[in-house]
Amino acid sequence: MSIGHNNRIHVMHGVNLDQLGRRDPAHYGGVTFLQLEQAIDAFAVELDLDARFFQTNHEGEFVEELHRVVNLADAAIINAGAWSHYSRAIGDALQFAGVPAVEVHLSEVMAREDWRKVSVLGDACVATVAGQGVAGYRDALVTLKRELSL
Ligand code: DQA
Repeated sequence: MSIGHNNRIHVMHGVNLDQLGRRDPAHYGGVTFLQLEQAIDAFAVELDLDARFFQTNHEGEFVEELHRVVNLADAAIINAGAWSHYSRAIGDALQFAGVPAVEVHLSEVMAREDWRKVSVLGDACVATVAGQGVAGYRDALVTLKRELSL
């Protein structure tokens, strides 16, 4: 078990993700948001990482959390929901957040509407994972563990 503060992963969910379980299961599966966070926590424990969680439906709060993230964690997983496709403000904040980040989408955004095929966050991330449902978060954790040389 790692001790010290080199394995903290801030898992940041944006707009509408708190409604998982009520959203279209064809895209998002049947898990509730609580079950998603519990699954991510279990992946993190298995990988000897320390997952912390944040969710908001308010863009400015998401930006402010990105301003703080360098003091809160060593790396971040970002699923910003629809903001991923158009929020230059979140993209800018992620650019200078100061920790490695992986962008995750539960659904296969590249196979959905055209507007979802664009990400304004990807350039600020070391990797993007999409279309793998809950398991995609495990991939993101593995990538960040490698990124942090853990
Ligand atoms: C999502 C994909 C986005 O296009 C959508 O707006 C979401 C969820 C995903 O996890 O697949 O809210 O980020």
